[in-house]
Amino acid sequence: MRVGIVGGGLMGSGIAEVCARSGVDVTVVEADDARAEHAQAAIAHSLARGVKSGKLDEAAREHALERLAFTTRLDDLAGADAAIEAIVEHEGAKRALFHDLDRILPDAAFLASNTSSVPIMKLAAETSRPQRVLGLHFFNPVPVLPLVEVVRSIMTSEEALAEAKAFAGERLGKTCIDSQDRAGFVVNALLVPYILSAVRMFESGFASKEDIDQGMVLGCAHPMGPLALADLVGLDTLLAVSESLYEEFRDPSSVAPALLNRMVEAGLLGRKSGRGFYDHTG
Ligand SMILES: NC(=O)c1ccc[n+]([C@@H]2O[C@H](COP(=O)([O-])OP(=O)(O)OC[C@H]3O[C@@H](n4cnc5c(N)ncnc54)[C@H](O)[C@@H]3O)[C@@H](O)[C@H]2O)c1
Repeated sequence: MRVGIVGGGLMGSGIAEVCARSGVDVTVVEADDARAEHAQAAIAHSLARGVKSGKLDEAAREHALERLAFTTRLDDLAGADAAIEAIVEHEGAKRALFHDLDRILPDAAFLASNTSSVPIMKLAAETSRPQRVLGLHFFNPVPVLPLVEVVRSIMTSEEALAEAKAFAGERLGKTCIDSQDRAGFVVNALLVPYILSAVRMFESGFASKEDIDQGMVLGCAHPMGPLALADLVGLDTLLAVSESLYEEFRDPSSVAPALLNRMVEAGLLGRKSGRGFYDHTG
């Protein structure tokens, strides 16, 4: 099986790694050479860490690396069995990409998006195969977290859904849950209003960021607090999901606090930019 992963950032490189480790041939498409090299280095580093921690042996690392190819040409996905889109959370860019993927990939391929907030139907509408377009929503870090939300639009066929579930579930070994094509799907519809409450609490001076995070870690046995989690998810992604939730449901719990807007405008995006609520440069 050969899968194209478009976008080799935080999520795309994780998805590519998991696919390659599962014996799938992967072509990662990035925007330019520097980003393609960065994606390649990130995956190599993660695989090496897997060997160091004993989760992977040396032969498995080498086999995974052999299965990975990197390119800047979308046309290199001609002949692939499926594509998973993991580019920036920008509706216009994703729509244009689905239009191109539909032109390039064989009719039998399914086209999946890892989007956190763009309705799958909007992407499907750009293609001539809306019945073969769906969401495969992975979680960060992809090699560690076992969940995939499988999102069906009102046009997705049972057949495509079954194929995508067999791929994510049996092939990649993930646990799949079903979601309707509604903003936030299942997990973010619950999680994002919670993180936004924590941002509001911090913004208003109600409590320090350390106390908010420690409260949820030690009081509720969460593995990390909401502001540390915001940094892990990426503040731009968090903002995009909050906007899509608000647009869909008009619930005040999904309104982005001013502080979140300012931080994104300042480029303080969390771990991926080195600074968010916490400093990650050390
Ligand atoms: N960060 C998370 O925790 C998380 C979780 C689940 C889903 N998602 C979703 O996954 C997607 C990617 O998020 P991310 O956090 O990996 O972002 P990111 O910014 O780390 O990576 C995006 C990558 O896409 C590349 N790119 C942009 N346009 C491209 C194009 N036209 N062709 C090829 N590559 C292109 C960029 O160069 C960048 O490397 C988003 O839709 C996001 O909502 C993110």
